[in-house]
Amino acid sequence: MSFHPRMDYAPAKFHQSARALPEEGEPFAYTPENQAKFDACVKRYPPDQRKSAILYALYLAQGQQGSLTRAAMDHVATQIGCTAAEVEDVVSYYTMFFTKPVGKYVLYVCRTLSCALVGAERVTEELEAALGIQRGETDPDGTFTLVEVECLGACDRAPVVMVNDGWQERLSPDRVRQFLDDLRARGEASLSGCHLCKER
Ligand code: FES
Repeated sequence: MSFHPRMDYAPAKFHQSARALPEEGEPFAYTPENQAKFDACVKRYPPDQRKSAILYALYLAQGQQGSLTRAAMDHVATQIGCTAAEVEDVVSYYTMFFTKPVGKYVLYVCRTLSCALVGAERVTEELEAALGIQRGETDPDGTFTLVEVECLGACDRAPVVMVNDGWQERLSPDRVRQFLDDLRARGEASLSGCHLCKER
């Protein structure tokens, strides 16, 4: 049994792959629907605190094209009224933002203490073996991206894997392959839910 053989807080593979320096990309602007969502969100803040909407602005941009190009980040900077460097600071800090295309399902395996104590590292190793990739990488057909993250706030259901915006709780290594098959077959409907809103 391994127990966090590497607790590097800036895994090289992660930064070399999904969190690489952004490419310029095609010219970017919000769709009318996303522009309306952004405008509704930013109204909640005083005009001099428009920057408070930056996470939502980035979330919309990433949702629109799958990852964040330089052009998308420049668009967010214009919308928010800040510099491109400030947007890049935020993007490089949060693990949920990607500067390179990711798979249809992003598997965020929690590696913090509660999950580590009940086998998160072995879950990650089994995911790597089943998918033929390492943490930070995307499988060849673009279905799964595997990343490690810190506490997801569901420690009582450890080990926890967030899948896009959904959750799989208490995932044991021996159930990893079935978990992947279920995701391929039924998508996020196969997930066990979230301890905050859905019990099974
Ligand atoms: S330690 Fe894994 S969810 Fe909190």
